[in-house]
Amino acid sequence: MQVDVLLGLQWGDEGKGKIVDVLCPTYDLIARFQGGPNAGHTLEFDGQKYILNTIPSGIFHKDTLNLIGNGVVIDPIILKRELDALKANGFDPVAAGKLVIARKAHLILPTHQLLDAASESRMGAGKIGSTLKGIGPTYMDKTGRNGLRVGDTTLPDFEERYQRLVEKHKSILSHYGEIPDFSEREQAFLEAVEFLKAIPHVDSEHLVNQYLHEGKRILAEGAQGTLLDIDFGSYPFVTSSNTTAAGACTGLGVAPAKIGRVIGIFKAYCTRVGGGPFPTELADDTGERLRQLGHEFGATTGRARRTGWIDLPALKYAIMLNGVTELVMTKADVLSGFETINVCTHYIQNGEKIDYMPYDIVSIKPEPVYEQLNGWNKDLCGITDKQQIPQTLQDYIDFLERHLGVPIKYLSVGPDRKQTLQLS
Ligand code: GTP
Repeated sequence: MQVDVLLGLQWGDEGKGKIVDVLCPTYDLIARFQGGPNAGHTLEFDGQKYILNTIPSGIFHKDTLNLIGNGVVIDPIILKRELDALKANGFDPVAAGKLVIARKAHLILPTHQLLDAASESRMGAGKIGSTLKGIGPTYMDKTGRNGLRVGDTTLPDFEERYQRLVEKHKSILSHYGEIPDFSEREQAFLEAVEFLKAIPHVDSEHLVNQYLHEGKRILAEGAQGTLLDIDFGSYPFVTSSNTTAAGACTGLGVAPAKIGRVIGIFKAYCTRVGGGPFPTELADDTGERLRQLGHEFGATTGRARRTGWIDLPALKYAIMLNGVTELVMTKADVLSGFETINVCTHYIQNGEKIDYMPYDIVSIKPEPVYEQLNGWNKDLCGITDKQQIPQTLQDYIDFLERHLGVPIKYLSVGPDRKQTLQLS
């Protein structure tokens, strides 16, 4: 048995949550492996919409266990809020024994959020576009070997450890100016830490390997996207974790040889939220049309996403980094009605035509070279069979598969679970 990995190939928001939910019935365990509550996985079924920030997207299936892995950073307040919201809708994964968290996952403290805000406010025009959830500073404490972990909450000296870290944060914050009052948030944090103790703590490495040993099926769920990877993304406009397939190994405790299918999700066009380079961005009416038709506004923040045409050099890079074995294209329905669709096949950088992602796309913006394809005028939302795919969309799929060298196995034509077609 091997661990399959599902992840985003662009700048996040590709629709991973929906696809995990669709594939879930074929898995026994869904395991989130990185990132924090900056993820906003949106799932729709039976006319209801749910947004998950920390909880894996398999939570709505009664036979699946969900693991928040050691590579994730957890804000106990947000996790508690998510679980309360699920409970209000009739889902109680804790009572049902369907949610476990890794002891080695790190905790986001209220002071991590203050550090995030203080650091971002100093950046001026060079802002990373942080969600200000304290995720970056938490990962900094993790690699700085100062962090607090889920397992620490049950130790007798947890409060001392907490205070020590808070004092360190306060001394850093004092250099930025007056430290804002965080007593209310601290109270909520400490209450949520108590709540966290009611969720079973596990060693994700042992759980995952035990499941493999027993022949159970596991899906590792990524958050954000490959182009935001801390090592390979458009640095410094990246997230603080490894969003690539390698992150599933370190974020769960699974050996590379145990990785099976790697399912790469991408939108039929491109979006990006926050600052940073975006070669195919459309800062015009077409971009606005994509934003409105695709409802490209953050699931939790409401922030407008930047939009643009699909970018093949970037996708090829993402496929290579992750060893993608199959693709899922989402939001094909959003392009319905466009007379023509542009596909970026190359870039021009420093006067040279290149078909790969160059080292520096931050200070020297690569100029996209497009090939134009015919659009489709058909509303795709109701199609249920691949025979109903309009020819020009099939041509688009064939074109992408030819350039990317990997089959597109699923096509998503709407936000609902049911609006998903298996192509091969
Ligand atoms: P992050 O981890 O935050 O990057 O999230 P994500 O990849 O799970 O994506 P997210 O759920 O934030 O965004 C995708 C949005 O598109 C959600 O509102 C989905 O309901 C919606 N969506 C997913 N697939 C489709 C699709 O095929 N068509 C349309 N129109 N909407 C879709």
